[in-house]
Amino acid sequence: MLPRQKFTSSHAFKALGKHYDQIKKHHLRDLFHDKSRFDKFSIKFEDILFDYSKNRINDETLKLLLELAEECGVKEAIESMFTGERINETEDRAVLHTALRDPKREGFIVDEKDISADIHRVLDKMESFSAKVINGDWKGYSGKPVEHIVNIGIGGSDLGPVMVTEALKPYSNHLKLHFVSNVDGSHIAETLKKVDPETTLFMIASKTFTTQETMANAYSARDWFLNNGGTKDEVAKHFVAISTNEKGVSEFGIDTENMFEFWDWVGGRYSLWSAIGLSIACGIGFTNFRLLLDGAHEADKHFRNTEFKENIPVVMALLGIWYTNFFEAQSQAILPYDQYMHRFAAYFQQGDMESNGKSTDRDGDVIDYQTGPVIWGEPGTNGQHAFYQLIHQGTKLIPCDFIAPAQSHNPIGNHHQLLLSNFFAQTEALMNGKTRIEVEAELKASGKKAREIVELAPFKVFDGDKPTNSILVKKITPFTFGSLIAIYEHKIFVQGVIWNIFSFDQWGVELGKQLAGQILPELKTDAKVDNHDSSTNGLINQYKAWK
Ligand code: F6P
Repeated sequence: MLPRQKFTSSHAFKALGKHYDQIKKHHLRDLFHDKSRFDKFSIKFEDILFDYSKNRINDETLKLLLELAEECGVKEAIESMFTGERINETEDRAVLHTALRDPKREGFIVDEKDISADIHRVLDKMESFSAKVINGDWKGYSGKPVEHIVNIGIGGSDLGPVMVTEALKPYSNHLKLHFVSNVDGSHIAETLKKVDPETTLFMIASKTFTTQETMANAYSARDWFLNNGGTKDEVAKHFVAISTNEKGVSEFGIDTENMFEFWDWVGGRYSLWSAIGLSIACGIGFTNFRLLLDGAHEADKHFRNTEFKENIPVVMALLGIWYTNFFEAQSQAILPYDQYMHRFAAYFQQGDMESNGKSTDRDGDVIDYQTGPVIWGEPGTNGQHAFYQLIHQGTKLIPCDFIAPAQSHNPIGNHHQLLLSNFFAQTEALMNGKTRIEVEAELKASGKKAREIVELAPFKVFDGDKPTNSILVKKITPFTFGSLIAIYEHKIFVQGVIWNIFSFDQWGVELGKQLAGQILPELKTDAKVDNHDSSTNGLINQYKAWK
């Protein structure tokens, strides 16, 4: 069981409140008069450097934040998760995505079952299957090898594989990967235009095997296959399933021999490490998939065994809480200076917002403080020409994570230096800003007259004092990338523990699903509806008139 610590009545929270009144008077620029700031507020782990010195903190802030973590039982909670306690209490489940990446092949007993043996049985099956698909031994109905893989899934059964296969594209092989998630028929239709039934392998990825979107897309894919040369007997050569629901899989018509199982203790948004990663294993090869798991496992050990002061996920989580609950920041931007990582922020929108978008505490009481932030972001430098204006000069405080690799997979000309010069410049600019005096001097040097300087100067002032984390990694390899993802996962977990919420359920997605189920039959007739509110009635009836 997770502790029931009231976050806002903790001693550390109250002390932080008083401390906030002090620290908010200090500009980040001034805090950097302390020359040891970078050494003090940065952590190196393997090939990842986490620099958090450009945050609005000092020694006292960090001390109090670390006390908050202790007081809120983060240490105990970490142990509860890793040892398989049922910390997903509202679903009565353990939370063991960390076990999926543990190389130990036996001996992890949960509910009298050796789950490590199960995990490795499935991993071994993934290894031999992906090898067959990659080397051409897995043949389609006409004897041709697989060329296209279409992963059909949504949420955690889509976002992880998409994000990772994009980020690790430099490690990809000849297989062409496609991902279909949206129930909008355009998504499957456009994908099917690009593939050939003889050489396409569909992976139906769904933990529950009941998700409306995935099942609709899976049935349409099967119909397409049967209408384009395939027969029912040949479905087995072109459809595999990844699921916890064996019955659902066989009812769909997939041979359970071709099913890759996982378990209810793997949350959807933490499932890329499980058989849900089959498209990753095929796309970059199993050896690289294993390295991804190994990198995550290394980060798991760092998280579980390192004292909080040197613990990247814990420090990241505490900084997030500092801004959310004291500076009243509403959002958090994730800005990778790596084009391959273009889905990283989108992936952690689900990871973070589905986990910590909660307003009921672990006692079932309504919360009166802020919890999970809005997560958003795009790769740099594109974002600089889109939304950075607001981060620099807008009225909102937006803490940002800047992420960049020191080594590029494509060292063309001076592109990488150009990219990294922007990466370094942005955090420096956000921190320092530009004072009125500096602006006036600059305008004067450019030949502006005194009156023009007075008129223009206010618009050119940058307050600065904007907090950022910089995460510099040596190179985006499968191993390092596995670590990076795991670090973010654990950050989310720590924040949930401190906010006294349950991070591993997602009841908030149910209501919309239920109502869609009720509305669907109403859309099948031409009869006007009058059983909803006037807005919903009006919209449905206009749809019926126009369809
Ligand atoms: O959106 C809710 C959700 O349950 C996610 O948590 C999950 O990742 C997604 O739907 C897909 O679920 P499934 O893998 O069962 O199809």
